[in-house]
Amino acid sequence: MALDLSGKKILLGLTGGIAAYKSAEICRELKKLGAEVRVVMSRGACEFIRPLTMQALSGNEVHTQLLNPDAEAGMGHIELAKWPDLILVAPASANFIAKYAAGIADDLLTTLLLATDATVFVAPAMNQAMWRHSVTQRNICELGSVMGDKLMFVGPAEGEQACGDIGPGRLLEPNQIIGVIIDYLCADEKTKPLAGKRVIITAGPTREAIDPVRYITNHSSGKMGYALAEAFLNAGAEVSIVSGPCHIQASPAIHIVSVESALDMFHAVNGLVDQGCDVFVGCAAVADYRPVKVADKKIKKSESDSSQLVITLEQNPDILASVGARKNKPFTVGFAAETHDVLEYARGKLQRKNLDLIVANDISISGQGFNSELNEVCLITRDEELRLALDQKTRLAEKIAAYISNRIL
Ligand code: PMT
Repeated sequence: MALDLSGKKILLGLTGGIAAYKSAEICRELKKLGAEVRVVMSRGACEFIRPLTMQALSGNEVHTQLLNPDAEAGMGHIELAKWPDLILVAPASANFIAKYAAGIADDLLTTLLLATDATVFVAPAMNQAMWRHSVTQRNICELGSVMGDKLMFVGPAEGEQACGDIGPGRLLEPNQIIGVIIDYLCADEKTKPLAGKRVIITAGPTREAIDPVRYITNHSSGKMGYALAEAFLNAGAEVSIVSGPCHIQASPAIHIVSVESALDMFHAVNGLVDQGCDVFVGCAAVADYRPVKVADKKIKKSESDSSQLVITLEQNPDILASVGARKNKPFTVGFAAETHDVLEYARGKLQRKNLDLIVANDISISGQGFNSELNEVCLITRDEELRLALDQKTRLAEKIAAYISNRIL
């Protein structure tokens, strides 16, 4: 990671929230790295931290009002919108996100965002219930789909909140936010062969509910899928993971869509692919079947006359095949988890699901594959087969991402 932002111009927007104090640290660190920083504060932000603090840290006058004749005489709002290489809004409140998504420009910051060409990074910070609220999630989805690669959400993190709640909605730590900014501003200095490409990866297991407390699942940890996501991110791609239940912390720049069941995963994947996708990788261990009926109350032992309980299952849609069947399909990659005749079954899946590449792994060998740091795979396309020896999943992921990158570029 390059640690020099000399000559880079960053506009830092603050909106109202208890996390506003962390923006002081962000500002100070960006200045230390050599960036030029100008600060715009909403009325709400000024309730939490004084403009004078931000002025002292940024070394520039702080902008707070849209129609201020003195400020306009210095650097007018349109000039200010054209000035930065990047805009960072941290903290971004639920109210700010809602206004941005609706195109409302009723203060200086929201006006600048409509007038700028710069890429915008939004670091949300709010109460967990506000973050989870379907209206906030809709606003985020809408902004993501309308703005494409001109906007990136950074966070939020999960954990204890100022109000005592626990959950998602905390502002990411300043060093994590700054890491994302450095990665973006210094991207040209790194090898980013997949810059501008969108990659969607499924990872982890699915859970198929039997009743409110029981489900059918498998041993997938998500390690392979998340390692691939990091490898694609490092190669410059914009990465989304549609993730079954996992306990892995991904880089903040990776967009995570959390799902439970195969049906949820199917809808999430197809929704994302509709928005544009260059590479799709199906690494999740998706349940092939789900219970036909999900009991709405816990199934009691006494309900069954015999010592056996029969659960009838029906087939889930095949997510990978649905992407492979698209007219303008992305470069489509599947995994084949097999216990025997590994390569033969994998070749069959490559054809049947209309894939460009299948990654075959033998899950009968203990200590590799499911829920392990290690794996050993064979990459199979229609014209070649390449074995990758037993290795850390992180290293295999880099090799697989590089292989795909060579194939699509
Ligand atoms: O998560 P880890 O613990 O790191 O383990 C990694 C892994 C073993 C899960 C991974 O390497 C792997 O093999 N993933 C695919 C597991 C699997 O479900 O394989 P499959 O052969 O049953 O399915 C073939 C392909 O179809 C897979 O890409 C799968 O994601 C996809 N599929 C399957 C069924 C379904 N309904 N929809 C699908 O998209």
